[in-house]
Amino acid sequence: MAKSKIKYICSNCGYESLRWLGKCPECESWNSFTEEIVETSKRKPVISKSMYELNTIETISADEEDRIKTGVKEFDRVLGGGLMPGSVILLGGDPGIGKSTLAMQATANIKQKVLYATGEESEKQIKLRARRLNLNSSEFFVQAETNLSDILGAINQLSPAVVVIDSIQTMYRNELDNSPGSITQIRECTSLLMEEAKKKQYCVLIIGHVTKEGMIAGPKLLEHMVDTVIQFEGESNYSFRILRAQKNRFGSTNEIGVFEMHEKGLHEVTNPSELFLSEREKQTPGSVVTSSIEGTRPILLEVQALVTPSNYGYPQRVSSGFDQRRLSILLAVLEKRANIRVSATNVFVNIAGGIRITETAADLAVCSAIASSLTEKIIDNQTVILGEVGLGGEIRSVGHIEKRIQEAEKLGFKNAIIPSGNKKELKSLSGIAMKTFDNLDQVVRSILAKPANS
Ligand code: TYD
Ligand code: MG
Repeated sequence: MAKSKIKYICSNCGYESLRWLGKCPECESWNSFTEEIVETSKRKPVISKSMYELNTIETISADEEDRIKTGVKEFDRVLGGGLMPGSVILLGGDPGIGKSTLAMQATANIKQKVLYATGEESEKQIKLRARRLNLNSSEFFVQAETNLSDILGAINQLSPAVVVIDSIQTMYRNELDNSPGSITQIRECTSLLMEEAKKKQYCVLIIGHVTKEGMIAGPKLLEHMVDTVIQFEGESNYSFRILRAQKNRFGSTNEIGVFEMHEKGLHEVTNPSELFLSEREKQTPGSVVTSSIEGTRPILLEVQALVTPSNYGYPQRVSSGFDQRRLSILLAVLEKRANIRVSATNVFVNIAGGIRITETAADLAVCSAIASSLTEKIIDNQTVILGEVGLGGEIRSVGHIEKRIQEAEKLGFKNAIIPSGNKKELKSLSGIAMKTFDNLDQVVRSILAKPANS
């Protein structure tokens, strides 16, 4: 018989405890435990004795063409080519970032039936948004509902190809006593949706809010359950938004999609390099352009560094868009191998446009920007800088060099500083003047040989 008892569950990672704890021993977050009613049953596991018809991978049919194209290319690319039938996608992001807008724009042009179930807005509000976005579809159905059994009933009646749940925090299952938004409700609603989606082969797009720590609200185990987790990010003072795959069972996780929020909804940015470089100052010390690979696509980004004297105590090292620890390593290498004295200075590094670089190919650009800011010498703004920096001060080669250089060439860059190791791969390209280096000291001396900014 099912018994219910009270447990305390960490709302961040799902860790369970019999008593309330101030700090989660698993994920170390504070004040995250909430009281939940948990049903327990002590039944023995049953192993079925029926006969099964099993297929080998040869006989199972699956086509890439099965994917449903949304028509929003940036969205499709992040997912690995479109919506996979039978898959569950979690779309996370801060409130007001544009999740509902994105979900509507991406699903309204699908040539099959779509059910948009919302617990956040009324049907009228959805209509007004659709009008603003200029969407009109006879296949797009709206249900303002928070009870999951009613939504699943509507799904059975309609047989849609795609279902949008806006948002999972507002949904609840009748059978459970917990309130909507509690971990148990979020988890159980998601698992029921997963089960139904796999059985009936429709795709579910679940919208989830993000907590202030940047996690999708509710347990982290939600992220483990679903097939794909995509995150919609952006800074409130910029109009562009970045869609990033954090987990993807059906594609790469490196892809990003770039959008711009306009009065009439989200516009795809097909040439992000232009956007990210558009506000670049003509010639300033501490500014360097690098070519970064995001997924399968090269994007040119501006790395900015500001080095200032530290007047008291411990110098500050702050980075935005670049790994703080990597910055500390690079500063140590600059000091030791290239004779750049930064131990008593504040160093600030920023990737312009609010984007995040996660690859080491930007190391040399970061080092160059720091050296340039420290010495107030300008690095020619027609130059892209590429290379990984090792602890010995050596410049290591980077992947996809050809793509990176081609992107720079496309945007009119004239020079490139690249690792020596990459030179042989670039025989065919001629439009850009290449300078190759194999250690950091050489690069820094070459940059600093230019006249000072006066
Ligand atoms: P919304 O999709 O409702 O965000 P979320 O579902 O993530 O909470 O979008 C909210 C913001 O987007 C809101 O501040 C207004 C802005 N917006 C536009 O600028 N243009 C538009 O066409 C739409 C629909 C929204
Ligand atoms: Mg919304």
